[in-house]
Amino acid sequence: MATITLNGRQVEVPDGLNLIQAAEHAGVTIPHYCYHPGLPIDGNCRMCLVEIEGARGPQISCNTFVKDGMVVKTDTPAVEKMRKGVQEFLLLNHPIDCPICDQAGECRLQDYYMEYGQYENRSMVPKVEKNKVVDLGPLVVLDQERCILCSRCVRFCESVTETGELVIAGRGDKSRIETFPGMELDNPYSGNVVDLCPVGALTSKDFRFKQRVWFLNTTKSVCVGCANGCSVNVDHRAGMTYRYKPRHNAQVNEYWMCDAGRLSYKALNDNRLYGALVDGDEQPIGIALDAVIAKVKAAVAEFGPDAVALVGSAHATLESNFVLKRLAAEVLKTSKLFGATLTPDGEGDDFLIKADKTPNRKGLEFLGYQQSAEALKAAVASGTVKVLIAMDNDLVGEGGPEWAQLFKSVPFTVFMTKHHTPWAEMANVTLPIASHVEQFGSFVQAKGVLQKVMKAYDAQGDAIPSWELVSSLARALGTDFGYDDVEQIWTDMSAAYEALNGMSFYGIPETGHQLPVAEMVGK
Ligand code: SF4
Ligand code: SF4
Ligand code: FES
Repeated sequence: MATITLNGRQVEVPDGLNLIQAAEHAGVTIPHYCYHPGLPIDGNCRMCLVEIEGARGPQISCNTFVKDGMVVKTDTPAVEKMRKGVQEFLLLNHPIDCPICDQAGECRLQDYYMEYGQYENRSMVPKVEKNKVVDLGPLVVLDQERCILCSRCVRFCESVTETGELVIAGRGDKSRIETFPGMELDNPYSGNVVDLCPVGALTSKDFRFKQRVWFLNTTKSVCVGCANGCSVNVDHRAGMTYRYKPRHNAQVNEYWMCDAGRLSYKALNDNRLYGALVDGDEQPIGIALDAVIAKVKAAVAEFGPDAVALVGSAHATLESNFVLKRLAAEVLKTSKLFGATLTPDGEGDDFLIKADKTPNRKGLEFLGYQQSAEALKAAVASGTVKVLIAMDNDLVGEGGPEWAQLFKSVPFTVFMTKHHTPWAEMANVTLPIASHVEQFGSFVQAKGVLQKVMKAYDAQGDAIPSWELVSSLARALGTDFGYDDVEQIWTDMSAAYEALNGMSFYGIPETGHQLPVAEMVGK
């Protein structure tokens, strides 16, 4: 630790921090544009200038590191004047098109102008005009006039993706961001440059002009696009998600997320199932549930508990899979509980993207689920399964014709799903469930980090979280688990699994909790 004097106050800060971080640590914000904690320092914008006792003139705080005994001032009239001057310089050629800029509400130029700028325009010459709506790649559009040349986007492509698509071309007031000749910004992480850009120069083709940011609400969640489980913020309004943005999590995704994951929010809005289907026709949920209960009871009475097979899912939360496991063990007493999820592997890389496109395979492992597809196949092929209930697991859509054929041989199939899929039409009963942003729950990502998702809004229609649906099946079959809230599930789950002892849902840190991966063999 180092002790520094910040604006007359002695504060202790960890060694190795720069002054922006150190001040932040002490609750003081130093304005900055070009500095980003996930990128190499460039020190080009000069917005972070501060006074340091004994230094020759003002110093940039992004590239000055704490030393014991340092005396730093961030709030003197001289510092304020410098910030005002930097703002005036940056806005010299910046078009004042804030009312139509998609970054309005999230733009540091606007924010800092209100805080430090507020000057009369002294410029006597017209602004330098540059190109607008420059198509950089599949996800990103550039407005060269709005760019303040902070080089964050260039540094991202140089040091994070190491793809080098972006350059600063030209000199002086003709300098501009461009793609390197013959290249486009199409690396799998390209969307991050939009988040990085401190002003409205880089915008997302997908998001721009869809919503003003001040109408959106933000909820902390994780991306369910692959087993990495990147921490994200979900931006939503009136029951509709408009975008994912990466949320800093040092042990999972740093500051970034991949493009495929970024766009995967669309599945939350599209092709959703909000009502129950019986033999492919819409029916009230009560009728559908009654049909399931009747079939389960009849199958158990005639063939014994093992006539009912349950299939958990690497797409469903830990809580839902835990409750399903209780239904199997304590209510139905069937040994036919599977976790086989047939989602095919996709592309992976050695950065964030995992080939496994499910968010909770480790969670199933943790709960001790039998995940072999062969075991499920053998059970179904044996003809002993009379009722098959699959939770949030599209075994037909993802398994293909072979599995479709196999499930046709089961007299009664029940599918709990978020989406209309071929199996939703084919199952005897299809029940609508909530997506991960429509409920509280948790997932265990590839390295064993347990992360929670918070509810952004209610699901529409009859869709409810799958643990609620499973609980109501249990109740109808004679056992009330008494679960109205995930916290109650956690009381039982943390008692049942040593690695969760003493934990509660709301107690899971926002950046997750590392489970002991080596010991991840559940009961
Ligand atoms: S486009 Fe944005 S991130 Fe890139 S240099 Fe310009 S202002 Fe900075
Ligand atoms: S790496 Fe995986 S979890 Fe992360 S954003 Fe991409 S798809 Fe989502
Ligand atoms: S943040 Fe320090 S110079 Fe830009």
